[in-house]
Amino acid sequence: VLVFPKQNLTAEEQVAFARRFGDLYLFPHGPGIEAHPYVLPINIPSGLGEGRWHSDATFDPVPPAISILAAKELPSRGGETMFANQYVAFESLSKGMQQMLGRLRAVHDGSSHGRAEDKSTHPVVRTHPETQRDALFVNAEFTRKFENMSVKESKGLLEFLTDHAHRPEFCYMHRRAPGDVVMWDNRSVMHRRMSFPASSRRLMHRTQVRPVF
Ligand code: SIN
Repeated sequence: VLVFPKQNLTAEEQVAFARRFGDLYLFPHGPGIEAHPYVLPINIPSGLGEGRWHSDATFDPVPPAISILAAKELPSRGGETMFANQYVAFESLSKGMQQMLGRLRAVHDGSSHGRAEDKSTHPVVRTHPETQRDALFVNAEFTRKFENMSVKESKGLLEFLTDHAHRPEFCYMHRRAPGDVVMWDNRSVMHRRMSFPASSRRLMHRTQVRPVF
């Protein structure tokens, strides 16, 4: 997770910054802002509860590698973003558990966005293509079950992993100042938005970058 304080980027500048890291990812479940299809406005409504932990768009066979979030409007309090390190989440499991997870794949879908037909499978443990480190890769928002198992059979282990993945010692909470730009690697961290009051607005502009193969 990288934080660039007080940037106040325009949409054009945010797109130009994102393009330095690779081709842009077009989010399939929501339109971008006018004239900028790659800049997604998120969290416009007032007062939202906590988001669920996730890595972005894992219902997609090739999810975005990098997400970049620019703070446009901030609530009076709350609305922070929590990040959880999935290398450490994996490394802190027992060797026996690590070996068993290394043989599993999981089914992810977009049903939480009303798009259950958007579905893909990913390894439960992914080796990051650049660092070669193994990271846990399941999340509460999009992961439904393990491949070749029923939802019921998957439930216990999936709940254990999605709880374990955000133990406090793996987490960083970012409290934004206006104009802050936060950038993260979806292959090694999960994130979630914290709640904020109904009397406040919160607006972020998100751009995403495809993995480079
Ligand atoms: C997200 O949940 O994808 C964005 C995180 C945030 O709005 O803080």
